[in-house]
Amino acid sequence: MSTDGVDTSRRRFLTAAASVVGGVGAVYVAYPFLASMAPSERARAAGAPVEADISKLEPGQKINVEWRGKPVWVVKRTPEMLDALASLDATRADPNSEVPQQPDYAKNAYRSIKPEILVMVGICTHLGCSPTYKPEVAPEDMGPDWKGGFFCPCHGSKFDLAGRVQSGLPAPTNLIVPPHRYVGESVILIGDDQGVA
Ligand code: FES
Repeated sequence: MSTDGVDTSRRRFLTAAASVVGGVGAVYVAYPFLASMAPSERARAAGAPVEADISKLEPGQKINVEWRGKPVWVVKRTPEMLDALASLDATRADPNSEVPQQPDYAKNAYRSIKPEILVMVGICTHLGCSPTYKPEVAPEDMGPDWKGGFFCPCHGSKFDLAGRVQSGLPAPTNLIVPPHRYVGESVILIGDDQGVA
């Protein structure tokens, strides 16, 4: 009992008990959250495809779309960015995308359906951080050999503008290309590739 009459030992116990309840609550929070969603939101959270409108995407720009709770990046690469990729082959861990980190239709030099449009899950294949987009060539913080790409600040993995990892760094594989298809000139459906050869 403290001097102002408040039983601090009991208060401490209550605080501790509340934190435990809070911890348990967090584990189960997904169900009531899903139940409270509208049917379309629920389908999306459970993995329904999402559309990305790229009509306003400028060369060099990236937009983020959420699919299955993950960030998906869509980048419009410039001709210079595409040209630079071949010069990086020798320093890539998997330059030809032999590891199936992409659908078959993206197993090519650009890892994409249309050369200029990159669609990629924005999660590092090491331990799941989200890498930072670094499109500039040879910025001071990335050094003279940097041709643009993605840098994971967690443990230093570097990916080029096709999501191919530089060899010798912690991430074991290239970034994932999700299933996707074009449903219009400027609309991509992410999470659905029915009919794409
Ligand atoms: S999580 Fe990206 S390098 Fe470790």
